[in-house]
Amino acid sequence: MSETMKAAVIHQFGDTNQFTIEARPLPIPGVGEVLIEVYASGVNPIDLKTRIGQGVSHFWTATNFPIVLGWDISGVVVESKAPEFKVGDEVFGMPRFPELADAYAEFVSAPANELTRKPHNISHIEAAAIPLAALTAWQALFDTAKLLAHQTVLIHAGAGGVGHLAIQLAKWKGASVVSTTSNQNIAFVTNLGAEKVIDYTSTNYWEVLSNIDVVFHMISPDLREKSYQTMKSGGHLISITGPVSPEEPAAYNVNGQFISVRPNGKQIAQIAELLRSGDIKVEIDASYPLKDVAKAHKHVEGGHTKGKVVIDLKS
Ligand SMILES: NC(=O)c1ccc[n+]([C@@H]2O[C@H](COP(=O)([O-])OP(=O)(O)OC[C@H]3O[C@@H](n4cnc5c(N)ncnc54)[C@H](OP(=O)(O)O)[C@@H]3O)[C@@H](O)[C@H]2O)c1
Repeated sequence: MSETMKAAVIHQFGDTNQFTIEARPLPIPGVGEVLIEVYASGVNPIDLKTRIGQGVSHFWTATNFPIVLGWDISGVVVESKAPEFKVGDEVFGMPRFPELADAYAEFVSAPANELTRKPHNISHIEAAAIPLAALTAWQALFDTAKLLAHQTVLIHAGAGGVGHLAIQLAKWKGASVVSTTSNQNIAFVTNLGAEKVIDYTSTNYWEVLSNIDVVFHMISPDLREKSYQTMKSGGHLISITGPVSPEEPAAYNVNGQFISVRPNGKQIAQIAELLRSGDIKVEIDASYPLKDVAKAHKHVEGGHTKGKVVIDLKS
């Protein structure tokens, strides 16, 4: 194996022109970690926010540029210092978040307990699209809101990366789903299982919805007040796009909080089971070779991704 690899690096925070493809030393896995040959790396809005110096950049005590962005990976173990995996195992996950994982690269070292085996029935491109979005949905709906089968959940942005997986997870749980999307994605979101789909370009959701038990708010924080108006007393709103003060939901007699996703090996293994069984599927909007990482970021920056955008390290 070569001592170096290709990675998409940035030398300072900024726009997509910051990306350059450079040779970097191969990472060395620590105890409990594996070295993965990366086949695909998912792109998430948090990558874009962090690229401009926002997002999760405040979590790092010292930023030694150049840095490599990206967290979602799928690939093959080429060296193992962990009992969980052996060389040749296909794995996927979202290691180290919110610390840097250096995922836009040909090789990544990652803690084994933040990974799981890739289901054989999905490709590396599909697997790399899953972890951050699906873990966010899992932690919001199940850990935080404790969504139950008889409840109705409003999942905003149902065609997006988090939304399209959240709808399927809520349906698997047995809940009723209401969602928002633009006209062009109504059929897509309906086919995911949403009973009611509201075209946000022509209808104000807060004027047509009421008695909602759980709201998964992943659109503009400015619209959060409108989401509270749709809720049942005692309901639960989870925001992933802005902080929520204790007073804010209390004014509507509901619970509300902001969450930030974290790696979780047990949960990603449960998500892998649902992928194996076909209970959930991921939609790939586009994939780009590593050299076109800037195009991948611009695609997501457009704000209308249908499902997920992925970097294909093998194209
Ligand atoms: N706190 C956390 O841990 C965490 C974790 C993951 C994501 N997030 C954040 O959550 C947000 C969503 O993430 P994502 O990965 O799902 O993003 P995404 O895939 O880029 O979302 C794109 C989708 O948003 C839809 N959309 C845009 N404006 C909308 C509106 N007003 N109403 C309904 N749908 C709308 C678009 O639908 P149309 O094309 O039909 O317009 C598109 O399908 C991002 O801000 C992200 O940073 C936070």
